[in-house]
Amino acid sequence: MDKASYELYKYINGPMHQPLRHDSAHKHVSGSAEYIDDIPEPAGLLHGALGMADRAHAEIVSMDLSAVKAYPGVVCVLTGKDVPGVNDVSSGGHHDEPLLAETKVEFHGQPIFAVIAETRDAARRAARLAKIEYNDLPFWTDVDGALENGAPLVTSGMTLKRGEPEEELARAEHRIQGTMRIGGQEHFYLESHIALAIPGEDEDVTVWSSTQHPSEVQHIVGHVLDIPSHAITVNVRRMGGGFGGKETQGNQFAALAALAAKKLNRAVKFRPDRDEDMTVTGKRHDFRMDYDVAFDNEGRLHALVANFAARGGYSADLSGPVTDRALFHADSSYFYPHVKLTSQPLKTHTVSNTAYRGFGGPQGMLGGERIIEEIAYALGKDPLDIRKANFYGQPGSERVLTPYHQTVEDNIIARVVEELETSCDYQARRKAIVEFNRTSPVIRKGIALTPVKFGISFTMTAFNQAGALVHVYQDGSFHLNHGGTEMGQGLYTKVAQVIADCFQVDVERVKITATTTGKVPNTSATAASSGTDLNGMAAYDAARQIKERLVAFAVEKFAVPPDEVEFLPNRVRVGSKEIPFPDFVKQAYFARVQLSAAGFYKTPKIHWDRAAGRGTPFYYFAYGAACSEVSIDTLTGEYLMDRTDILHDVGKSLNPAIDIGQIEGGFVQGMGWLTTEELWWDGKGRLRTHAPSTYKIPLASDRPKIFNTRLAEWSENAEPTIGRSKAVGEPPFMLAISVLEALSMAVASVADYKVCPRLDAPATPERVLMAVERLKRG
Ligand code: MTE
Ligand code: HPA
Ligand code: MOS
Repeated sequence: MDKASYELYKYINGPMHQPLRHDSAHKHVSGSAEYIDDIPEPAGLLHGALGMADRAHAEIVSMDLSAVKAYPGVVCVLTGKDVPGVNDVSSGGHHDEPLLAETKVEFHGQPIFAVIAETRDAARRAARLAKIEYNDLPFWTDVDGALENGAPLVTSGMTLKRGEPEEELARAEHRIQGTMRIGGQEHFYLESHIALAIPGEDEDVTVWSSTQHPSEVQHIVGHVLDIPSHAITVNVRRMGGGFGGKETQGNQFAALAALAAKKLNRAVKFRPDRDEDMTVTGKRHDFRMDYDVAFDNEGRLHALVANFAARGGYSADLSGPVTDRALFHADSSYFYPHVKLTSQPLKTHTVSNTAYRGFGGPQGMLGGERIIEEIAYALGKDPLDIRKANFYGQPGSERVLTPYHQTVEDNIIARVVEELETSCDYQARRKAIVEFNRTSPVIRKGIALTPVKFGISFTMTAFNQAGALVHVYQDGSFHLNHGGTEMGQGLYTKVAQVIADCFQVDVERVKITATTTGKVPNTSATAASSGTDLNGMAAYDAARQIKERLVAFAVEKFAVPPDEVEFLPNRVRVGSKEIPFPDFVKQAYFARVQLSAAGFYKTPKIHWDRAAGRGTPFYYFAYGAACSEVSIDTLTGEYLMDRTDILHDVGKSLNPAIDIGQIEGGFVQGMGWLTTEELWWDGKGRLRTHAPSTYKIPLASDRPKIFNTRLAEWSENAEPTIGRSKAVGEPPFMLAISVLEALSMAVASVADYKVCPRLDAPATPERVLMAVERLKRG
């Protein structure tokens, strides 16, 4: 352990690991937390609305916007021709997403023009008055349609391969082929997308954007307006949820607001309503997985060949890294001796799909769990036994190599699963359920215990860096800024805890300030669950620098050795003297000590060669397990969540209160994905589930009736992460796989567990009923 880390862990019992409330919790519930739409509106503010295509794929033959322009209150109508720079808002430099479509449209709802008006109402009404002539082109909206039409990929796919899978498939005792369909998901953040732009002098523009990635918004605005990044400041204090939906999708609104603001020299706000937000922003990718698996009589998997085809939408966006992450997690927690996994991010004429909590990992992992089910039902065993038989081994064992050739070094899955199995009384309850199902005519129950292992780091190595800026003022209060954004996950609170801990001051002394490109530059998206790992460490680095200067000051001023300077709660001990922290800081100021520092961190160890499919893409893994029990009505397909028990690994928790919130929230969101949330496009390529009336997210009443969540308190990150904690944002989402598997067992009971139910996701009541009917017919 290096000296800097030692300094950190010395204070391990300080504020860093306390279950403090989210700094804004009281403001969230009382309505006083300021979101962008709550910022007092600048004088002369104008409002924007989108003019959207009503074709899935067509050439634009002509556009008559005269009625739009003539509508009372309309100030201007923007088209692609008004873009002074490049008419492109694609993330990652793919150059395939026009801000406003000019010659052709590629999805129903694609923005073609933008209306800027004195009121939001006028802008929205005027936007409907355009007369656009199209020349329709052939289109397809889903994976099957894409495959039938020989659709291109929106970005290149990936292959992971180890051993001799094809040869081994032919040799094995048992072999099964199948297909699984895995649905997409709408983010349904409570705050829809929004951007407010205020023009400044010269080229300057300031943008408030509901984005997880302020640096990319800055970059995109520069690209669209053809101005340098230094002219653009992007601010975000908080989002009302992002869930990945604001990693890239905010670009278009920010760019439009900035474009209009600079053109008109007035402040401009874009705030799509829920239906528009759902129509013009990307979602979780739905997948079709085709698998061919071989295994032995003990249920050990020998070989797997699987293809993951995904609905990419019309442009690349993040489909490449998302489908990559699906492959990285298709092993779930299991060792595959011989394996070949391929991905196909397919082009479809739908909105471009994007990041969503787990980032393809959930889809890959669910595929891996389907394979376990196939093996279990084929052999007539409890799926949990098959899971255990296939877990990665301990270091030194031969069973530690992933399909991407990274060695799993920190494996604790067997312990997590065993502890949960005991604490939730799995064996006895499963026995009782099998007994219950034998005699219950209509209601059937199911129980399943599933593992989670999630790789932490951006697979794009360069994104694993962060910066922070810390000031100490003369009164001993702190100003903290870093590159991460707050979307409800508690990042700001955790990083403030790190600073409070370093100086042993009360956390209230640390002011968390809005993320802004002007203070910390070149940041990564707050994503991949890495916000605390990266920004917590960067803030720690800044704190360390200031602390070193303060210690040097005390050593000189009081003529004591460095180890006689100690930061105690709200005071500093120098030799036998104890000085209140604010007094100490004031003295340092008068001695002209620099009380501000910029910190930086980059994740060590990781590297990834995508073309070769080899490397160490993940710094470490987060683990967890969940056991869910459900009841289904075999006559209607309706079901209830009776109970869920979770044991989850967050290393040494930085804030157990926030972490448990993340685990419960992630689980319920995952449950929604796998049960009631279903996206549906009609024959015209129009998304018909574009409002809560047709798209069903889980309600409070849908949560498991008994819901026990525990942290694996004994766990510490084997790597020197901040406070030895682990990332928590995404991994718990996949605990919900236990719900689908429990539903699957309940369905299987109608055919005496002899047939794998092959329940696809989402397992809506309709789909559960159809599976029951299918199994009854035999
Ligand atoms: N929790 C809340 N309340 N709101 C969110 O938008 N996003 C999730 C997760 N938890 C999200 C959330 C996603 S997709 C990610 S990647 C992480 O939080 C991002 O934050 P972190 O890296 O600070 O954990
Ligand atoms: N996770 C989330 N967002 C990302 C990633 C990732 O692995 N890579 C690029 N953006
Ligand atoms: Mo999270 S999907 O990585 O924003």
